[in-house]
Amino acid sequence: MSEKINIHWYPGHMTKARRMMEENIKLVDLVIELADARIPESSRNPDIGALCAGKARVLVLNKADLADPVCIRRYVEAAGKDGVRAIAMDARSRRGMEELRAYVREACAAKLARDKRRGIVGRPLRAMVAGIPNVGKSTFINSFAGKACTKTGNKPGVTKGKQWIRMAKDIELLDTPGILWPKFEDPQTGIRLALAGAINEDILEPVELSFWLLRCLEQSYPGAVAQRYGIGAGTAAEQSAAANETVTDGGDSARLLGILTQIAQARGLVKAQGAPDTGRAATVLLDDFKNGRLGKITLEP
Ligand code: G4P
Repeated sequence: MSEKINIHWYPGHMTKARRMMEENIKLVDLVIELADARIPESSRNPDIGALCAGKARVLVLNKADLADPVCIRRYVEAAGKDGVRAIAMDARSRRGMEELRAYVREACAAKLARDKRRGIVGRPLRAMVAGIPNVGKSTFINSFAGKACTKTGNKPGVTKGKQWIRMAKDIELLDTPGILWPKFEDPQTGIRLALAGAINEDILEPVELSFWLLRCLEQSYPGAVAQRYGIGAGTAAEQSAAANETVTDGGDSARLLGILTQIAQARGLVKAQGAPDTGRAATVLLDDFKNGRLGKITLEP
């Protein structure tokens, strides 16, 4: 499938995003890096270390409500060993925010101590959010921009045009997030990004994408599909024959197509001629995964 995935950021887009990051990063003490908890590694930016050089950094594993808690815990531990503080978050319900505030202060402890030595007191810590598209940056920022938060900006000492949102009495958040680009070296990364909705999956073939998901689920979450759609294992050949589909690479694809056929049958998805509509079944499966209806799942080992 890898050759079909040809979604790259154009060099121009990347340069623009990098420039914006570099400009905004000068204004802050700390970068809150957002990653998708379902694909923590694939949704991080390869250059983040260099981009944030000299700044404190906290990693937020967002959409934790959709991800496997065991995998999250392991990733948080592993990141900690690499010297990066990580925290699970559901930006929509604000779960994890209190802990994050404490982490921000901890991560900026050296700066706070320096300010104190210089006699600077009461200056708020300034943070910016950064992450790849669709990881939840706007949701995260909006969570802070509710009634309880005041926006500050366009006043002396504040860079013109920049808006800051008060995250706590001593922490401010830049209201414009930094947009980062994902890494594409590994073709699996592109597939994971598409499954999580970080890149537009319309440009990928849903049936092939769903095959990849089915394989991953079989390996790490056996039973998730059967449970969701109330289907049994069934024989692959029978099922793909029922779908009246031709598969070219024999065994595995025929078997997976059989599962899609079962999903189509369970959901009453039929084509005009009455055959199970495996294309729509694939779309249903992908949508269910994206919205957490198959359970809390992480797509990385
Ligand atoms: P971005 O600024 O980084 O591009 O991402 P944005 O906040 O627009 O969020 C992208 C999608 O992810 C939105 O869904 C948003 O609701 C959802 N989202 C953000 N944070 C979380 C989270 O912690 N958990 C879950 N489950 N979803 C989250 P959407 O379908 O594009 O829009 P809508 O459903 O909110 O209308």
